[in-house]
Amino acid sequence: MKKNIVLVGFMGAGKTLVSKRLSEILKRPRVSIDELIVAAEQRSIAAIFAESGETYFRQREKEITAQIALQENLVIDCGGGVVLQEENIQQLKKNGILFYLSASPDVIYGRTKDKRDRPLLSIPNPQAKIQELLNQRRPFYAQADFTIDTDGQTVEDTAQEVLAKLKAII
Ligand code: S3P
Repeated sequence: MKKNIVLVGFMGAGKTLVSKRLSEILKRPRVSIDELIVAAEQRSIAAIFAESGETYFRQREKEITAQIALQENLVIDCGGGVVLQEENIQQLKKNGILFYLSASPDVIYGRTKDKRDRPLLSIPNPQAKIQELLNQRRPFYAQADFTIDTDGQTVEDTAQEVLAKLKAII
């Protein structure tokens, strides 16, 4: 069995781009939990939050994570809040190796400030929110098998670091 490669981390940590690069290098299918939610709901993440609330989004995220976590040989791009529900971490760990892509608050702000469809940061003072959420979530992200600091790294650097860590354990 080829374990899934699961990328977790805060918004703007680079999960999407790094997962695409890993999928290309390893020739493994990539799935994005957020993209699956958007496809299932036929509306954007921002619309789901605005119309149905965050609790509803987290419920859909949990259902879709449970389905995807059963598969194998995937590169899985998780939304930044997937780690907030303990069941998600347990499910993803069954068939997967979790990589936490970390980044400092300033770097996260720089990488997210012009992007849309992130309702949690579409507020007047996103910098304070980034700091607050990062502080809250640190212990959850720390449950990953590996941590990779992405500050100052290119997508290629981070993808290569994931590959190096995989080589060391497989
Ligand atoms: C969220 C992160 C987003 C998306 C949603 C909530 C979070 O995914 O799932 O907006 O709680 O951190 P990205 O990390 O891919 O931006």
